[in-house]
Amino acid sequence: MYSHVYQLALEVKKGVEAAHPKVDVELYQVAETLSQEILDKMHAPAHPDVPIITTDKLAEADGFLFGFPTRFGTIPAQFKAFLDSTGQIWMKGALDKKFAGFFTSTVTQHGGQETTGFTTVTYLAHHGINFVPLGSGISYFGDTSEVIGGGYWGAGTIIGNDASRPISEREKEVARFQGKRFAEIVATYIRGAQVIEAEKA
Ligand SMILES: Cc1cc2nc3c(=O)[nH]c(=O)nc-3n(C[C@H](O)[C@H](O)[C@H](O)COP(=O)(O)O)c2cc1C
Repeated sequence: MYSHVYQLALEVKKGVEAAHPKVDVELYQVAETLSQEILDKMHAPAHPDVPIITTDKLAEADGFLFGFPTRFGTIPAQFKAFLDSTGQIWMKGALDKKFAGFFTSTVTQHGGQETTGFTTVTYLAHHGINFVPLGSGISYFGDTSEVIGGGYWGAGTIIGNDASRPISEREKEVARFQGKRFAEIVATYIRGAQVIEAEKA
């Protein structure tokens, strides 16, 4: 809504692209569910110029990195509306064995970055999607000398009460790390599955 998650997504995308020259990454946003009148009252700027995702796009991909700002410690209604629209592809098992990870944005350090990921894993479980955490490869997660969003559950940014705090260099680095690690894991799985299929033939 206020573009922090979009900026984080651009960094995640860079990380995915850095994983392997053959990785194909596409950026989408979910459809807005609020009226322009409400968006104006919330002082929301125009949404980025990114295509709106449809559920068939999920079925085409090997993996997804979902980014969403926190709303009361969980995903926004807009994103829930999109995930709730995946019933038809769920019935076909179209997302079974695919991969997903999360990244988010909060106002405060304790605004629910981890609960946002934690409460969204249920969608993955029901679809049979493998959750890929960010993991523990970031050495400065324990550094208390500066505010750093994100954690084992996924990248994140902490934007402050007035949303004026820009995404920090370390938060950007965490986002790129997540994208690269995610793509490496998905690529390893795909290549491994191809080898196993060839061995069976
Ligand atoms: C209805 C509502 C609920 C929110 N709940 C939380 C919250 O639980 N914790 C928090 O830190 N920030 C909360 N926020 C602030 C948003 O997380 C913040 O606007 C968002 O991270 C900005 O990301 P964006 O620029 O990508 O929209 C809330 C904002 C709204 C409008």
